[in-house]
Amino acid sequence: MLTQFPGFIDVHVHLRDPGQTQKEDFFTGTAAALAGGFTTVLDMPNNAVPVTTAERLAEKIASAKAKTVCDIGFYFGSLGDNIDQFPLIHDKVFGIKLYLNHTTGNFLINGDILDKVFRAWVYPQPILTHSEEDTIGDVVKAVRAYGKRTHVCHVSSKKELEPIIQAKEEGLPITCGVCPHHLFLTEDDVAHLGSYGRMKPSLKSKADQDFLWEHLRYVDTIESDHAPHTKEEKDSDTPPFGVPGLETTLPLLFMAEKEGRIGREDILTKLYDNPKRIFSLPTDPDTKVEIDLDEEFEITNEGLHTKCGWTPFAGMKGKGRVKRVILRGKTVFENGNVLMEAGSGRIVRCRS
Ligand code: NCD
Ligand code: ZN
Repeated sequence: MLTQFPGFIDVHVHLRDPGQTQKEDFFTGTAAALAGGFTTVLDMPNNAVPVTTAERLAEKIASAKAKTVCDIGFYFGSLGDNIDQFPLIHDKVFGIKLYLNHTTGNFLINGDILDKVFRAWVYPQPILTHSEEDTIGDVVKAVRAYGKRTHVCHVSSKKELEPIIQAKEEGLPITCGVCPHHLFLTEDDVAHLGSYGRMKPSLKSKADQDFLWEHLRYVDTIESDHAPHTKEEKDSDTPPFGVPGLETTLPLLFMAEKEGRIGREDILTKLYDNPKRIFSLPTDPDTKVEIDLDEEFEITNEGLHTKCGWTPFAGMKGKGRVKRVILRGKTVFENGNVLMEAGSGRIVRCRS
């Protein structure tokens, strides 16, 4: 039997286009989204050439227009030196992304720049942060000082989630997301995954993972942080951080639902209602996914739509096969096949 859901929303993906299309491009990345049950994705700005100017954002949007098969929106990046660009781009993006820890791309900022951007971003869309255990305190301080809506990405441990819980209890306008890899893998998995189990933030202890599950009510979104890299890159002497996730999030969560670890309502709240509300996303009543929840399977590296062709979850059990995706009334994906031409997805803009 097929169960119908609204088109799910992944608020954190890296589709690598333009600049690193050996890893992924807007066609393969959005095909992976459809195969995973997502009809809207929000793409990060840490491209090979960072998206920190209006011109680069326009180039990115042009590339997406030609290739996407689901709906897509964008975030803007900042190192604190492009504040003059904010008035030019604010209505074209869903937020501004700041990196307070080292990761893929050259995007690192310090506390002073954080303050500068918090003062300069005067728009309703949130500020998003990559802030791990050592930098989360700076972010909470800035939210308290400037009162700007802030979304903390990929919270991975007790040390990261605890200050966010406190900030929420204080009434600060802060939201946060967790990733499937931090919910379903731990540092013990790095032994067999090697570089394929390395991402930022890193996999943590079982105790940290338990803390995330036990405090899931404080977590607003489940976001894949789909960050594909080729096998050659992962096998090299300097493997980059990041793992793909678009096609495995829902099967892992529906299996967790079966095991009594998460409710159906929570899945809908964290992958549809909250993303829609936090990012003021337009949605459409005729955009749906149909999933066969009776199907259980082993997740493998075969048959993926992502160009990188691997998943850190291979060998784990998944539940629920996406059978059909309907975008604005039209069937765009059925039984593993993308039925739409490249470029038929929509570039979405913020409603606010
Ligand atoms: C991401 C990437 O590869 O772009 N890597 C990662 O390990 N998560 C960047 C990021 O989100 O930090
Ligand atoms: Zn990311």
